[in-house]
Amino acid sequence: MALIQETDYGTPARIAGMLVTLEIDGKSVTVPSGTSVMRAASESGVQVPKLCATDNMEAFGSCRLCLVEIEGRRGTPASCTTLAEPGMKVRTQSPKLAKLRRGVMELYISDHPLDCLTCAANGDCELQDMAGMVGLRDVRYGYEGQNHLKAEKDRSNPYFTFEPSKCIVCSRCVRACEEVQGTFALTIEGRGFASKVAAGPTNFLESECVSCGACVQACPTATLMETSVIENGLPEHSVVTTCAYCGVGCAFKAEMQGSEVVRMTPYKDGKANHGHSCVKGRFAWGYATHKDRILKPMIRAKITDPWQEVTWEVAINHAASEFKRIQAKYGRDSIGGITSSRCTNEETYLVQKMIRAAFGNNNVDTCARVCHSPTGYGLNSTFGTSAGTQDFDSIDQTDVIIVIGANPTDAHPVFASHMKQRIREGARLIVIDPRRIDLVKTPHVEADYHLPLLPGSNVAVLNAMAHVIVTEGLADEKFVKERCDMEAFAQWRKFISEERNSPEATESASGVPAADLRAAARLYATGGNAAIYYGLGVTEHSQGSTTVMGMANLAMLTGNIGKRGVGVNPLRGQNNVQGSCDMGSFPHEFSGYRHVSDDSARLMFEEAWHVPLQNEPGLRISNMLDAACEGTFKGIYIEGEDIVQSDPNTQHVTAGMMAMECVVVQDLFLNETASYAHVFFPGSSFLEKDGTFTNAERRIGRVRKAIPPMAGMADWEITAALSAALGYPMPYQHPSEIMDEIARLTPTFAGVSFDKIDELGSIQWPCNAKAPEGTPVMHIGEFVRGKGRFMITQFVPTEERTTGRYPLILTTGRILTQYNVGAQTARTANNIWHAEDVLEIHPFDAENRGIREGDRVSLTSRAGETTLHAQISERMQPGVVYTTFHHGFTGANVVTTEFEDWATGCPEYKVTAVEVTLARKMSEWQEQYLETRRQTTQIQTNQILTGAAGD
Ligand code: SF4
Ligand code: SF4
Ligand code: SF4
Ligand code: FES
Repeated sequence: MALIQETDYGTPARIAGMLVTLEIDGKSVTVPSGTSVMRAASESGVQVPKLCATDNMEAFGSCRLCLVEIEGRRGTPASCTTLAEPGMKVRTQSPKLAKLRRGVMELYISDHPLDCLTCAANGDCELQDMAGMVGLRDVRYGYEGQNHLKAEKDRSNPYFTFEPSKCIVCSRCVRACEEVQGTFALTIEGRGFASKVAAGPTNFLESECVSCGACVQACPTATLMETSVIENGLPEHSVVTTCAYCGVGCAFKAEMQGSEVVRMTPYKDGKANHGHSCVKGRFAWGYATHKDRILKPMIRAKITDPWQEVTWEVAINHAASEFKRIQAKYGRDSIGGITSSRCTNEETYLVQKMIRAAFGNNNVDTCARVCHSPTGYGLNSTFGTSAGTQDFDSIDQTDVIIVIGANPTDAHPVFASHMKQRIREGARLIVIDPRRIDLVKTPHVEADYHLPLLPGSNVAVLNAMAHVIVTEGLADEKFVKERCDMEAFAQWRKFISEERNSPEATESASGVPAADLRAAARLYATGGNAAIYYGLGVTEHSQGSTTVMGMANLAMLTGNIGKRGVGVNPLRGQNNVQGSCDMGSFPHEFSGYRHVSDDSARLMFEEAWHVPLQNEPGLRISNMLDAACEGTFKGIYIEGEDIVQSDPNTQHVTAGMMAMECVVVQDLFLNETASYAHVFFPGSSFLEKDGTFTNAERRIGRVRKAIPPMAGMADWEITAALSAALGYPMPYQHPSEIMDEIARLTPTFAGVSFDKIDELGSIQWPCNAKAPEGTPVMHIGEFVRGKGRFMITQFVPTEERTTGRYPLILTTGRILTQYNVGAQTARTANNIWHAEDVLEIHPFDAENRGIREGDRVSLTSRAGETTLHAQISERMQPGVVYTTFHHGFTGANVVTTEFEDWATGCPEYKVTAVEVTLARKMSEWQEQYLETRRQTTQIQTNQILTGAAGD
């Protein structure tokens, strides 16, 4: 394996209908019009020296190194800022050009430390390369003049340093922060010789910087440099893989020295990220080799016993014999399993196969149950398929963007940067969210409308928007007539036209001023291509599925479906939420969303798996826990999921876990769920596995093994071994064979294979004979279900109401630097930004309760109580408080309730009636939590309180 070097063409590619042909160094080159001479030269294999240009941002023309001669033109224009023209004759090399370029380099080098041999970028420095390329041999001005060599280094960011003495003020970092990331954290201060790069008033850590790494990537010198490279040296080979954090699914090069990761560099060919990254994927990978990793299988008889390390064989046989014993005593349905959206498609598929074939029941569920199950239900009912409609790049053709119940800058940062680019280009933005999320107003981006609805009123707001569009005659009647089921539409139109759905009638329930809502609806219907992007603020409600259908109704009503720039797009939380749903990990359906009661589908699986299968849906996660509390469910296999921390009503979850006789946890760390486990199988990080993840745009990307499994067995091998011990062998040699089986048994995956993904880079399903290279945009010409179906979306307020005792509404979400239950990010330096969950509260509510910034407060609901520190914030509206759920000790889910989506059972995390008061000490639950954790994991209290922090 070698280090993958990607070509830098100097300026961005252009997509244009018109082509121009020119001559570069005597060679004819044809490029799209708008292409720079520099890029045209590069595409023809001629590299013009450059420093300030790079191909993920517009040319700047400041360094003057890329000069060329053009026949018939005076002077020596910069090739990066000169556009290719038909018939142009360009010379990139001549004695005159060589002299000019050497002169430029002399100036740079006279103010640059000459410590190349000991510099961390030695061998990976464009300044060094250019000095060599132009043949620089000495500097006539000497090195003694005025210089910046003593400028102080900024080490404030944990992941990269800024060494101004090496800066050539090319502005690439500043432009990367603006154009690629959209944060505008950097500026060039001063003029002429005194000009320098500045991050905020003091340093990077104190600035607006979000540590995306785009500036580090862009820097042609060692000025901005990864700390890991400074400490360990440069990589010698790289492996292209997919980020294991969020549903954007960024492609990365894992850059390695032997089996050590030196850095993760975003891959330019990654179709979801185009070379961009966020702080999690780019820098927060140290958890993979954290000392807390469990590397030996372990068993114990009782959860209060110390763990006993055993061989793989003993652990697997023990788990299998316990499951067999339980089934013999309590019946076939007394055990089940849970897969995770962190797992690869192949691992997930294998877990559900083991449960259906070896356990002999359908008691399999996935964590998508608690996040995006309403997406599947809602989009399937209306469009006929359980997935988002567009690819991310489709946003380049969007004119109006609705963001509802999502906070992309924190939860889907790389796509948020893409979205911000489009908004800076002129797209209009409507934000529907109880909080003033960053997108409402961030540098050079401002929402046209922010509809700050009350949590729980999504359906009322979407219905009111549809009401405006129908009653004001703004619907796309032609589209509806041609593409939709007219009978369902007629019924729906009658329903939505009713006065009770008007903005004025729903204003008191939603809190959204009717005039703003009307204006937003008009913009959505008439502003050109309109796309909806949504997140868990839509799905995690008692009307989650109804809200998804409400968005689908809006898209059909306005013809915003089935072409580029439009659609209904779920922003999936975890890396493989889409995949875990596709792979059949719900109790009622096989891979490809075929119901277990569908005889032909079941027969196909029975024939392929050589085993009879059940035709009744099995238990969902919440049903398993209920049954455990009732004494009928006694054993569970949980791969990669921490249900104790992430599922609602923690007390009920732990009661269920404690009632079981055999809990098998397969994970990297002793997570909260492992406190209740009897068998622990050490799992692998994404760096240790081969497989695929499917991102929010249905894109199947490869996960490639960069290091061998640290515990000796890959996750799929563990599942296969357990299945074999249960009497149902699954003899695969490699995960590619599992994908081949998925493709054989799943029509939407029929054309997918590891070879095909390797060839194309990634594939968006459906991929089959009709679409051999995948499907970026769905429902073109016809919906998957034939005619699009409008669904009646009656607004039913949640039963969770504020009362005199619990007068505030709690809603929850994520923060950029932490990820879900914190198992990964809390074991990295990301804790510097967010070491604990805090409670955001509006100044008005805080003052009424005598709460000041940083006070410890008690957060109480009818379900439970926890404590955390207060952060007073005008992002909240009065009456609504907000927290994240990244740290186990906070126990945000101790207060969330048992209410759930009517169709799918997705918990209503986003609406809990609470009271907030000053607290003197931790809550009873927290005390008990510490005691249980100490007893069951032998981890000391101070370690628990600090998270498993530190790296
Ligand atoms: S790391 Fe990202 S956000 Fe921070 S300064 Fe660099 S480009 Fe800007
Ligand atoms: S820090 Fe790097 S990218 Fe930024 S101006 Fe200096 S040399 Fe250029
Ligand atoms: S945006 Fe998501 S997929 Fe991309 S690097 Fe960040 S966490 Fe990873
Ligand atoms: S690369 Fe063209 S002016 Fe710097």
